[in-house]
Amino acid sequence: MQEDLLNFARTLALEAGPILLNGFRSKDTVISYKSRTDLVTNIDKESEKFLFNRISDQFPAHAIIAEEGSRKDTPGGYLWYVDPLDGTNNFAHGLPFFCISLGVYSAEAGKIIAGVVYNPFLNEMFTATRGKGSFLNGERIGVSSLADIGICLVGTGFPYNKENMETNNTREFNRFLPRIQGIRRMGSAALDLCCVASGRLDGYWEGRLNAWDTAAGSLIVEEAGGAVTRYDGGPFHPEFPQIVASNGKIHSQMINILMQKN
Ligand code: IPD
Ligand code: CA
Ligand code: CA
Repeated sequence: MQEDLLNFARTLALEAGPILLNGFRSKDTVISYKSRTDLVTNIDKESEKFLFNRISDQFPAHAIIAEEGSRKDTPGGYLWYVDPLDGTNNFAHGLPFFCISLGVYSAEAGKIIAGVVYNPFLNEMFTATRGKGSFLNGERIGVSSLADIGICLVGTGFPYNKENMETNNTREFNRFLPRIQGIRRMGSAALDLCCVASGRLDGYWEGRLNAWDTAAGSLIVEEAGGAVTRYDGGPFHPEFPQIVASNGKIHSQMINILMQKN
């Protein structure tokens, strides 16, 4: 079943890719605002409609939760977390770092069992099924091997609502900055996780995400040999907003920084 789900998810992502590319850097793309800083485009919605309909047709008994509001609640045992366009801000500004993210949760396993993250601009397809490893365009990928956080490059992200200093990640950011080689804020949580899985980043943390951001990418990191937890080191669950992902070797160093009291 896992392989069937993955093959279908991969096909869907490939089909949705052109929807994103057609709207990228296009004067016809329409931006609207969910709040002053949280924008959405007609392409997010078009991609979501396409993905929702295709999943519903193929697997009528599966539940779906998609970012722009599409919901289907069924007791079928499988739940699809759909981010139809992760990296919307990049997309709306013409920056080519965005993707489609599809993660499938199995109630029986109590875990995500298949995940696909596809960047159509770079034609990079990251995939994983539980227990079977992670792949980029069909080639096996693995996490980096650096063990000293002082020479590591890590990623992070900030929530749209940034006014509250307690929760806007600036305190964590300030603690990391002097202790590491560099920080990137690339603007797509799903791709950030794939960067950890493929060794492009050594670690990544973010504190206010949704399941559609992390479902697929968290599995892709784990299956690439990395570690994924919450800030306190406890088990990660996609419905929990915090995530720390790493090559495993620097994980406890990242947890120590995140849990430091200041
Ligand atoms: C956002 C991106 C970003 C992260 C935000 C997310 P969106 O998702 O993943 O990197 O920092 O917290 O909400 O809105 O582009 O789908
Ligand atoms: Ca997202
Ligand atoms: Ca999105």
